[in-house]
Amino acid sequence: MKILVTGGSGFIGSAVVRQAIARGNEVINLDALTYAACQENVASVADNPRYHFVHADVRDRAKLDEVFREYAPDVVMHLAAESHVDRSIDGPSDFIETNITGTFNMLEAARGYWIDAGKPESFRFHHISTDEVYGSLGEEGLFTETTAYDPRSPYSASKASADHLVRAWHETYGLPVVITNCSNNYGPYHFPEKLVPVVIINALSGKPIPIYGKGDNVRDWLFVEDHADALLLVVQEGKIGRSYNIGGENERTNLELVRTLLTILDEVRPKADGSYLDQIEFVADRPGHDQRYAIDPRRIRDELGWRPSVTVEEGLERTVRWYLDNEDWWQALLDRKGVGERLGTKA
Ligand SMILES: NC(=O)c1ccc[n+]([C@@H]2O[C@H](COP(=O)([O-])OP(=O)(O)OC[C@H]3O[C@@H](n4cnc5c(N)ncnc54)[C@H](O)[C@@H]3O)[C@@H](O)[C@H]2O)c1
Repeated sequence: MKILVTGGSGFIGSAVVRQAIARGNEVINLDALTYAACQENVASVADNPRYHFVHADVRDRAKLDEVFREYAPDVVMHLAAESHVDRSIDGPSDFIETNITGTFNMLEAARGYWIDAGKPESFRFHHISTDEVYGSLGEEGLFTETTAYDPRSPYSASKASADHLVRAWHETYGLPVVITNCSNNYGPYHFPEKLVPVVIINALSGKPIPIYGKGDNVRDWLFVEDHADALLLVVQEGKIGRSYNIGGENERTNLELVRTLLTILDEVRPKADGSYLDQIEFVADRPGHDQRYAIDPRRIRDELGWRPSVTVEEGLERTVRWYLDNEDWWQALLDRKGVGERLGTKA
């Protein structure tokens, strides 16, 4: 299968690229190489003759047409996005342009290409989205694929808008689409502004480990390699026009997650004295911080037979070990704009 992956130099996209190549597919990675991208993430496949990199921006419609014409992909997996909620609070315009207009451009380029190719039955436009489009849950309940959209941050609103466009292109133009909405990912190559890498890196650097609010916000944590596996299944076997929620079946409060991470670190890289837990510091909450996300994974489990392969404890231990073994990777990213700063306070 020839897969056009957008955002393939980011965290999740690169996991998709690496797995897709390992399974014998041909991959075209289209990425604008924003601050969140890192070509090291795909270095292990860069010399593979089945891997191609195109430096392009999804805001550039003409370039997208060119890429479709040149590479004639069998399927599209659209992951390119601005992805950090805190950055969306301080500067939402990039989120509107890339996540909404960029998705519109991708849909139009894909539609033109699909029509010119005689509407091949096997073509799929797979849009990768988030559970954040559903808003926030109370103590009970789960997000299902029919939960009403209720996005509450500029990031989640931009992703929700994109989801609506993708559905409309299916209903109106018949474009064969599938959508996935997944929970919080963690794992190797996670950009060092997101919670899990921030905790590991600050712990190792002897810095305070910030917990927003009381740390009681709940997320359903999904190991990135499991997510990539689910995505490659959905793009091949998902039913056209359908959306699938993907979760890790691993609900944890942020505080529980951080404590688990630091306990693993205490075991595998003990401090000279004391525990990394002593570095935890509670800081002002994120404006509009969603209280709880939790995925009902029944559709992808029952219809496609997919389940996560690791528990959060196993996945976090693999992640901690990866960060310990790959300090050069994350050290090089710490100089990028905004990394290490408290963002998202300008509301
Ligand atoms: N990280 C999560 O926990 C999570 C959870 C659910 C859904 N998602 C979704 O998965 C996708 C990937 O997330 P991620 O965490 O890997 O993001 P990321 O920020 O790590 O990577 C995004 C990639 O997209 C590229 N990109 C950004 N703007 C672009 C543009 N205008 N044109 C082309 N490329 C551009 C970046 O260069 C980067 O390589 C996103 O669509 C995100 O909304 C992420």
